Amino acid sequence: MLESKAGVLFVAGIGFFALAFLSNALVPALMYRDLPELTVEQLVRNNGNLRFQFEDLARRFPDSFTKAYGKPPEGVGEREKWLDEKTQEALRAGHKVYVGEACWHCHSQFVRPVSNEDRRFGPVSKTEEYQNELQRPVLFGTRRVGPDLCREGGRRSNDWHAVHFFKPSTLSPGSPMPEYPWLFDGSPDKPNAKGLALMTYVQWLGSWLESYPYYEDYKAAPLPGDEPAKGANP
Ligand code: HEC
Repeated sequence: MLESKAGVLFVAGIGFFALAFLSNALVPALMYRDLPELTVEQLVRNNGNLRFQFEDLARRFPDSFTKAYGKPPEGVGEREKWLDEKTQEALRAGHKVYVGEACWHCHSQFVRPVSNEDRRFGPVSKTEEYQNELQRPVLFGTRRVGPDLCREGGRRSNDWHAVHFFKPSTLSPGSPMPEYPWLFDGSPDKPNAKGLALMTYVQWLGSWLESYPYYEDYKAAPLPGDEPAKGANP
């Protein structure tokens, strides 16, 4: 077999396949076998970046927010618990919308350690980032018609996403990304429950990293029914 060129290539092909299977499947599977898979509850806990974005939705779209989630309770403790639960609900629902609308047809969620991708998208992806409930099904993606989204959170404001989901070409002339008017009750300033959920999900992407933009006015984001906090942006 090794006398002919084709034979050598055949053996090499099988060999490299076996090596790739060993290094990309077997070794990681064995390394992370005992690492527990994080639930959405664990992902939301102490995630200030995500909480900021969720409260920001309440501030920017108060009517839509109240329609989708109701009004937060009064007491500080109950309010925290309520916010935690609603953030979890929105994140799970947003993930379903992302899968259902097939966003993964055009967007990957994996920054590869090649081609200076980290300069374009952010820190290179690590294995443990995929060990959670929201990666089932895995959303690595195989095509990049649009940019990678696994560090998209915090890169754009919720307003930007609302207008972009409603009609991408308004913000990105000539964009081939489809319009998603069914995530809204009529206009881009009225996202429905699905629209709010999808924005929560997109803002969550990368929210666990230090590179996530820091929001100084985090504590100042009021909820529907609150008096605007002192010094908050109008
Ligand atoms: C047909 C392919 C296609 C589909 C399907 C698609 N997108 Fe896009 N998306 C693009 C392209 C191309 C761009 C870059 C141009 C632009 O900004 O519109 C983009 C840009 C984006 C951006 C902006 C990234 C940035 O910061 O510049 C976000 C966020 C986004 N898409 C989210 C989504 C979500 C969520 C869905 C599913 C509801 C989706 N896309 C479906 C092709 C697609």
